Amino acid sequence: MLARVYSCAVLGLDGVIVEVEVDTAGGLPKIVVVGLPDTAVQESKERVLSAIKNSGLETPRRKIRVNLAPASVRKEGPAYDLPIALGILIATGQLNPQSVGDTLIIGELSLDGSVRHVRGVLPIAAVARENGFEQIIVPDTDAAEAALIPELDVIPARTLSEIYEHFTGTSELEPVSFNLDEDLVFDDHLTDFKDIKGQEHVKRALEVAAAGNHNILMIGPPGSGKTLLARSMPAILPAMSIDEALDVTRVYSIADQLPADVPLLRYRPFRSPHHTISHAGLVGGGNWPSPGEISLAHRGVLFLDELPEFGQRVLEVLRQPIEDKLVTISRAQGSLTFPANFLLVGAMNPCPCGYYGDPVKACTCQPGTITRYQKRISGPLLDRIDIHIEVPRVDYEKLTDDRTGEPSKSIQSRVETARKRQWKRFEGTHLTCNADMGPTEIGEFCQLDSASEKLMRSAMSQMQLSARAYHRVLKLSRTIADLAGEDVIAVHHLAEALQYRPKDLM
Ligand SMILES: Nc1ncnc2c1ncn2[C@@H]1O[C@H](COP(=O)(O)OP(=O)(O)OP(=O)(O)O)[C@@H](O)[C@H]1O
Ligand SMILES: [Mg+2]
Repeated sequence: MLARVYSCAVLGLDGVIVEVEVDTAGGLPKIVVVGLPDTAVQESKERVLSAIKNSGLETPRRKIRVNLAPASVRKEGPAYDLPIALGILIATGQLNPQSVGDTLIIGELSLDGSVRHVRGVLPIAAVARENGFEQIIVPDTDAAEAALIPELDVIPARTLSEIYEHFTGTSELEPVSFNLDEDLVFDDHLTDFKDIKGQEHVKRALEVAAAGNHNILMIGPPGSGKTLLARSMPAILPAMSIDEALDVTRVYSIADQLPADVPLLRYRPFRSPHHTISHAGLVGGGNWPSPGEISLAHRGVLFLDELPEFGQRVLEVLRQPIEDKLVTISRAQGSLTFPANFLLVGAMNPCPCGYYGDPVKACTCQPGTITRYQKRISGPLLDRIDIHIEVPRVDYEKLTDDRTGEPSKSIQSRVETARKRQWKRFEGTHLTCNADMGPTEIGEFCQLDSASEKLMRSAMSQMQLSARAYHRVLKLSRTIADLAGEDVIAVHHLAEALQYRPKDLM
């Protein structure tokens, strides 16, 4: 008898419905799997047979053919074990095809018949819903994740025999649900801005960066607090909306980086890869393409500490995702796209010894060394960073001052107000913040009055701004005006934006 069970293949962040067709044929008992399966899928035969046997069910006595359709899509990983097993149970007459019906099924089987975790459950559940499925069976450990998708019955699978009994009606399993309405909160073990002494101008720059999602680079001597400031940044970013949280969780689900007991990520990601990171580690890739750090930082912060230490090639690959907010990875079977809309925060010393320009400690580097060090970050990459800010050493008076600064919470509330203006501005478009604006939107929303226009004209020639820098300055001015709650960009907004442009340190 021919059986048909539905499952799903994951391609990047998208999924394709896979029909698992199982047919019995004459001949010695064995299973043949066709339909572009990878090694893990080929090996599922062994797991499936043991699981069926150890669940007290009958293993097939004849040859079984399994076809995974459409054959053009590569099937990867062990998630087809459970649908293949159920297909065999139908094909051998142990299960009624009507009962399995229109259910989408995923799960890896272990030899004893228990169902194990698979990656990418959230995007799979989303695909199921989009394709009109009303019920999905997923591993018990991943059920809460699938339940994030509304209007979908999620049946948690612990063992093959439980699922068998569910379909025969002996003991039905209850769908799980998940309450999405709890507040999305912040990680409260971050250092609060109020405990970081001095550096008021850096905090202001970080606030502007957070308000419009602008990239920022901090330059200063060792121990001035660059790393500390960057790590405190997530607390001043606006809270994630449910849609954003789902968006981020999808990436982590695919990368298999969701903590076991956390179905939904509620904090904005903060990724801080080490400078020895590989190309594939940063942008994504590998045999079984997985999102890289830039995608794991989607809707959060990508912090590159000690920026010049990153390999030049590694840094150059950031250029395209910074502009496009996504990354496309080409493979022999076609290309995959992962989102990568992150806020880039970089930190660096001005020279190898770290003290160039420091008023207290003398720099011991040769002039040539300093230039070479700074040249490790290319012009095009620097051009993409809107805010360049110097972080000088904190003096003793400031460091020992008992007065605390402004808490992160109140900075965050200003950032949120500025973001709300942006959401309203971009309502009905795919844009969410000022940094996302293209030339059309810049023309529409970043009008300068005559005084600012004059300032811009002289800045263009004196600071030798590129066309990109010109647009970036306008976007930054828009954010500064938004923080001030003003509709028109005034001269002082533009002036602040201009002073964040890179200065020649030499
Ligand atoms: N402004 C500050 N307020 C309070 N503590 C500070 C401040 N700046 C630095 N510190 C202290 O100094 C430590 C080192 O700071 P941090 O690691 O951020 O320096 P850095 O600028 O990243 O240095 P490096 O260039 O060597 O990486 C912090 O963990 C903190 O204890
Ligand atoms: Mg540091």
